This record gives sequence, C-alpha cells and structure tokens, in this order.
Amino acid sequence: MAKPPPSPATPALLDQKFWRNFAKNVWEKKALVLKSVKSGLLEMTDAEIFELLVLYADRCRELNDPTGFKFFIDGFKAEEGDVLQVLPEKEDKSLLGYHTRMKAMFPDYCLVCDELLQVNLKKQPLLTEFTDELYRHVGFPNRFSEMGLYLGNYRKTPFGVHVDSCGVFSFPVAGVKRFRLWEPEYVKKNPSLDRAFKYDKHKKASQLLEVKPGDMAYWPSSAWHIAESDGSFSATWSLGVWVDQPHKEMVSNSLKNLLNKKIGAAGNKVTTAFKNLHSGSGEVSELPEAYRQSMELLKNLTAEELQETFLKSWMQHISMQGFKTIPSTAKKITAKSEVRLRSERSLILWQQSLTSKNKIYFCFGGVLVESKKSGGLMKLVKALNAGETCLVGAFLKSSSLTEELDSLQALTNAGALANS
Ligand SMILES: [Fe+2]
Repeated sequence: MAKPPPSPATPALLDQKFWRNFAKNVWEKKALVLKSVKSGLLEMTDAEIFELLVLYADRCRELNDPTGFKFFIDGFKAEEGDVLQVLPEKEDKSLLGYHTRMKAMFPDYCLVCDELLQVNLKKQPLLTEFTDELYRHVGFPNRFSEMGLYLGNYRKTPFGVHVDSCGVFSFPVAGVKRFRLWEPEYVKKNPSLDRAFKYDKHKKASQLLEVKPGDMAYWPSSAWHIAESDGSFSATWSLGVWVDQPHKEMVSNSLKNLLNKKIGAAGNKVTTAFKNLHSGSGEVSELPEAYRQSMELLKNLTAEELQETFLKSWMQHISMQGFKTIPSTAKKITAKSEVRLRSERSLILWQQSLTSKNKIYFCFGGVLVESKKSGGLMKLVKALNAGETCLVGAFLKSSSLTEELDSLQALTNAGALANS
C-alpha cells in the first residue's frame, strides 16, 4: 500500500455524493482519510464520553461483571476480576483524569469498551445516522457492526500487526492516532508480519494513516494493520463492519430452520435403516427410506413456505439494525401501562404469515413473536409505529389478553418500548 497517498485534507461532508463515491470506489477497496468530517458522531464531547464510560463501569461494578470492557497491560489482556479494578470512576472527573490515574500504575495500558453507545439510548441515533447511510450505499451487513472505544497510552495495538474480518471506520476523540496498513499480498510474501510488533524493514511497504479528533479513517477488511502512538494519551471510536458472512450462509441458515421444522421427529433419528449399502461392484444406487421421505418433503415445499421462511429470517436480521446487540429493557407490561416506542427510528417490524391467514409475526431486536391477526396487537403496533403513546388496555382484546400481553412483553424485553 505504499503508493496511493491518503485523500487530501479538505473539510468533508458526509453527503449523498460522498457516500455514492465511497460505495463505488473506496468500500472494501482501499483506505481513506477524511479531515474535519462533519458528522453527528463526532459531536459527542470527551466529557460526554467520560460520562458514558462511568455509567457503564458503574453498571459493571454493580453486577460484578466487566463484560464489554477489556484491559491490556503491556499488550497482555488482564483477567476479568482485575478489569473491574481499573475501570473509570466518577472521581476521575474526565478522560484525562482517568488517564492520569492509570498512567501512574501502568506505563502502557489500553482500555477497550465495546458497544459503549448501547449504554445511552439518546446517543444511539448519532451512530445510526452514520450506519444507516453506510448501509444504504454498501448494503446491509449480513453479520453486524460493532462500535468500540479504545483509550490509553499504548504504543502499539496489543495484538500486533493483524487483520480482522471487518472494514473499520476510526474516529479519534483525543490525541493523534496513526494506523499503519499493509496489503494482504505483501503479508502473504512476508508472513513474519503476522502479530509482529517490530516491523521497521516493512515500513516502506506500508501506508500510514494519521488522524486527529474531528477526522475519520477507513480501511477495508483485507488490510493488515496496527495502531501506533508515541505513548501519549489517545481515545478513539472504532466502528467495525463485519463482512465475513456471505449470502449463501444467510440462505442456508434460513433453510436449515425450515427443514428442521418440516422433517420433524423423523429428523432426530441417529441411525438410518437400509436394505443394501451397495451392489457387488460397489455401486451405490439405493436411497434409504428416510431420505426418500425427506425428498418428498422438499418436493412439496410451496413458494409461499419458502417466501415466508426467508422473509421471517430477513425481518429478524434487520430488526437488529445491523448491530450485534440491542439494549434490552426491564419493564413490566400490564393492560394499564402507557407505552411508546423507545426510538421513533426503531419500529416494531411485522409481517403477515403467507401460510396462515390469521397469523402475524412481530419482531424487535432479533426476537420474533407470533400473534393472531384477530387480536388487538396489530392495531397497537401500528399506533406505536406512528409515534403515538398508547394505553395497552385500550388496544388488546380481553378474549386474548394474556396471550397478547405475553407477546408485547417479549417485544418490550427485547427493547422496543419505553416508559411514556
Ligand atoms: Fe484491528
């Protein structure tokens, strides 16, 4: 990647023109540096980020579970129990305050917080504004995107030169950030680069991206990379868009569910009855009865069944909004609850069953619930999706109240609703 220099330092607007060009010429093709990017994502101040970190850390301390945080000392990952001891605290007062406390203990540390934005739902639209445009132009990820915050004074990425199965957008919050990249072909010829921390002789063949707060860097999933710093403090948002799930896997996953359901109990047999395994000459031409029955099932699949299977999988997939997790809520729903959508951008998705007229599927955050069309849930969901605040009891019918409340509770647990 020695030749093509990063893009020139002109203030960049992430408008339609930018995204069209990005999708056509940059995405999964080459690295890019944009100076002074105008994006909501960069509007979050370091004070707000510190507040989010403390909020998340407080929750981890309360649950005695540091999941979501990783801590590296001199490139080595700390044990879970130790991570809880080094998380940001309110008394640190700021990112720099936290850094001062850490620096005194660790000359080289790195704190990684995955999915920090999930802590504060109000800040989530800043991220989804960006990802919505990205997906509109390059396609919805078959896997997901992950947003993480990296902070510390580490001189090199703790795991050395590496490659991930994701394209990365990097947004520095504090400090200057340098990323060194190599083409996959070069690393193939120079395998010693894999996990390397010392690579002076390979620097000539690398491309160096340098970004500061307000800028954005991007590199494709094929780029081998390492972050470098001079040992001063830096904090960076990193959005990884995973590209390791091809369409064929989506199709086979959906079909697997359908086939499992279709084959039913016969599919659980762990031995197969047969008449002859092969002829005297070794030819195999006879299918056991179990296979013949399965073939019949496949032949009898209707277009509606296939359509419903794929549509249901697709709905479940997009209900995650391209993320690995969606924040869930703990809210008990009764007929007396007044509810509204958690976010007007995050609708409860639904579809009519194609194989059963009186069946409707609802979906949020990957959770699929089935309901009767004759019930009141459909009306309630439409009103919620239109932005209304609704009294649950005014919609759900008394004849199927328990069942519909259960369905609504499942969608609520998945994070669909907020208190009015
Ligand atoms: Fe990486």
